[in-house]
Amino acid sequence: MPEKDKGNAGAGRILLAMTGINPRPWYELLSQKRRVATEPEGADDPTIRYAVVWKQRPNLLSKLPNLSAIFSVGAGVDHILSDPTLPDVPIVRIVADNLTQHMTDYVVWRVLDHHRQGMLYRAQQKRKVWHEPPQRPAGDVAVGIMGFGELGRAAARILVACGFRVNGWSRTAQSVADVATFHGEKGLTPFLNATDILVVLLPLTPQTTGIVNYGLLKQLRKRNALGGAVLVNAGRGKLQKDADIVRALEDGTLKEASLDVFEVEPLPKTSPLWNHPRVFVTPHAAATSDPAFLVPPMLEQMEAFERGEPLKHLVDRKAGY
Ligand SMILES: NC(=O)c1ccc[n+]([C@@H]2O[C@H](COP(=O)([O-])OP(=O)(O)OC[C@H]3O[C@@H](n4cnc5c(N)ncnc54)[C@H](OP(=O)(O)O)[C@@H]3O)[C@@H](O)[C@H]2O)c1
Repeated sequence: MPEKDKGNAGAGRILLAMTGINPRPWYELLSQKRRVATEPEGADDPTIRYAVVWKQRPNLLSKLPNLSAIFSVGAGVDHILSDPTLPDVPIVRIVADNLTQHMTDYVVWRVLDHHRQGMLYRAQQKRKVWHEPPQRPAGDVAVGIMGFGELGRAAARILVACGFRVNGWSRTAQSVADVATFHGEKGLTPFLNATDILVVLLPLTPQTTGIVNYGLLKQLRKRNALGGAVLVNAGRGKLQKDADIVRALEDGTLKEASLDVFEVEPLPKTSPLWNHPRVFVTPHAAATSDPAFLVPPMLEQMEAFERGEPLKHLVDRKAGY
């Protein structure tokens, strides 16, 4: 780590509280504009105004008397809210074009690959098989986006432009052009019954934990243009039951899956998902938080806040996201 504290002495000081990711690039960029510490000077350090966090250590933020806001370096905030000692200050999450674009790329890539039978062609190539399966139009395929927020809606726009039918499921009612929207518990079964490719972009909350289980996958459309239901999860691993996905793949409930997230990460070497011929695995890399793009809007928010403007993209702690 570079020296502990540098940057604009007048502005509110930032505590960089990260575990599991490399804090260095965040430190380098934040400290160009502000004083940044990687450890508070005592549990009740009065100089800390903001915390920029990824899976902060419990108790680290609880006693800081002048902490005004917590900034998540991810779109999800489950890594922050799981701390039972979290102080009651506003939490700002990431909403940024760069991250949204990465997620849209990932979703469209995976949907197109399943639609255009990428798994079949890769298997055929391995065996040097020259065979052309039937081609179906995108309009015969319904993509259901579970978690129809910033990322889900952005992916939907491109999928609609590609010609897919798109369904969206959210907690509260939404109305989006060219998308069939569903919401709440009552809307879940009709949403699943009308979906061929399920794309999961939910946040992890007590309500959504384990939601992608065998019973849910059973409700997807199996007799469809793709020859089976497909799952794409780029939300959070604990939304799904890994063993249920394996079971669903084995008994034909699911045809294929693209998984970016897993119940345990890194995915244990013993997981059958690694070697499954109809599973595409990426290492929680659908939309990486790139500090070069995410630090500038974070610093702008701090400046605006100090001018008296309200913070944007605040987490609703009661809803859990
Ligand atoms: N794999 C990766 O690399 C990666 C990268 C970035 C983000 N993510 C994940 O993507 C998630 C979504 O990000 P976002 O920016 O799109 O979040 P967002 O804007 O907060 O959207 C969340 C969506 O989920 C819906 N939702 C929440 N709880 C629900 C429930 N109980 N039942 C039904 N719908 C529910 C919300 O409904 P309302 O519209 O009614 O509020 C909203 O539509 C993040 O939380 C994070 O976990 C993953």
